Amino acid sequence: MHRDETSVHAFSTGKVPCSAHPPTTAGTFMTRDILKTLKAEHDELRGLFAELKETTDRGVKKREGLLEKIEDALIPHAKWEETVFYPAFKERADREGLQACAEAYTEHHAVENTVIPEVHAADPGSPEFAGRTKVFGEFVDHHAKEEESTMFKMARQMFSAQERAQFDEDYENWKQSSASAAMIAGEKAKAGIRSMAKSMTQ
Ligand SMILES: [Fe+2]
Ligand SMILES: [Fe+2]
Repeated sequence: MHRDETSVHAFSTGKVPCSAHPPTTAGTFMTRDILKTLKAEHDELRGLFAELKETTDRGVKKREGLLEKIEDALIPHAKWEETVFYPAFKERADREGLQACAEAYTEHHAVENTVIPEVHAADPGSPEFAGRTKVFGEFVDHHAKEEESTMFKMARQMFSAQERAQFDEDYENWKQSSASAAMIAGEKAKAGIRSMAKSMTQ
């Protein structure tokens, strides 16, 4: 996805800070922080995966609902990281940071291209679904831990509190925009096509 330049510029220049949305009060800078928002979203996802793990093969509706909630939380988070946060991070990163960022992109791609399509190719009332969503949750948890312990730590040094607040405001505005809704719909459609391809090869 990050290779698709047109989609990047559809909702962001990828540059920080964005002067189009100046903070309204000095207090905004004191309280908002993109790193806190991203961490909170990781925790929300961890909670949803924990709930999903508790479901049984008979809880088809529950599983479907939770999977939808997970994707609705994960897709905007991942796409915004790939198209705005990671590129800005790379501009200021040292070699170690660039490696951490490369790992993060690869993990995103593995989830998008392999894990999610395999989950969708499974019947929600089956042990296959339980096994595949367990791996999905483990991937996301591993990736989130790596981001929190390496990239976010580095980002705290790279970006000022003001820049992190601006990122946070831009992210919130983007999530509420029609560009983000269209992108999520497109990503879900792509996942559906990939899962059909997986079904045919299993
Ligand atoms: Fe990520
Ligand atoms: Fe993340």
